[in-house]
Amino acid sequence: MTTELIDKIKQYWNAQPCNIKHSLSTPGTEQYWNEVTERRFFVEPHLRDFAGFHSWRGKRVLEIGSGIGSDAVEFARHGADYVGIDLSAESVAMSRQRFELFDLAGEFHVMNGADSAAVASLGQFDLVYSCGVLHHYPDMTACLDNIHNALRPMGEFRMLVYAKNSWKYTMIQKGLDQFEAQSDCPYAKAYSREEIYDLLQGQFEVLRIRQDHCFMYNVPKYRAGEYELEPWFAAMPEEMRAAVKEYLGWHLLIKARKI
Ligand SMILES: C[S@@+](CC[C@H](N)C(=O)[O-])C[C@H]1O[C@@H](n2cnc3c(N)ncnc32)[C@H](O)[C@@H]1O
Repeated sequence: MTTELIDKIKQYWNAQPCNIKHSLSTPGTEQYWNEVTERRFFVEPHLRDFAGFHSWRGKRVLEIGSGIGSDAVEFARHGADYVGIDLSAESVAMSRQRFELFDLAGEFHVMNGADSAAVASLGQFDLVYSCGVLHHYPDMTACLDNIHNALRPMGEFRMLVYAKNSWKYTMIQKGLDQFEAQSDCPYAKAYSREEIYDLLQGQFEVLRIRQDHCFMYNVPKYRAGEYELEPWFAAMPEEMRAAVKEYLGWHLLIKARKI
């Protein structure tokens, strides 16, 4: 793998850290961060259940790819002993500012989840959590080895990656959509359930894999802060939209345990 590609990945997430446009208020203010949180869990409500923030009070949690700290805030508010790492120095700086503003305890490091010595220096964890990250890195196997080593015996690993068997991937294949809201993402991949089982085999026992989430809103309106379903989704009864999320959802939600 070329360092050139890794540099491009860093540059991409430094130029626009993930979800910074989730609020139109002044970046870094309390109002801005509250709106970022509100929008995240309005659009992706399944993430609360997936992370199970309340379950990790007093436990050590490592997040790989912590972005601007949206899930970090929830882990910390629920009493976890939280450590977040991200390739993007800009994202880490924003997370630190967010934690300082809300007087939350937690650590952030600019670090690559594939760097075995660096990840090992962080110690052992009860949960390793990674939401929408490892599909953006070309060496998933190196990251998984480090995650396995960072977990205590029977420790849990929760990972969200993009699903191949999804509405969104179908549209991307046909040139009707793109992986990220921001264009020119240097690396992104979608996975089948079978590929995930193969990647985790030998190191993790898969507890559950399920699908959820399909972004159904009109993008220009969404950018302006409005929620209007695209007409083809608006025409569906709610049960049909729920079926799309369950069987063709973009998020492959994996819960596994270290073996
Ligand atoms: C789509 S964002 C998701 C951020 C956050 N988890 C969230 O849900 O908002 C992907 C993030 O993963 C980071 N990332 C990608 N590969 C990484 C790696 N190998 N180690 C650490 N961070 C990584 C990127 O810098 C970026 O901030």
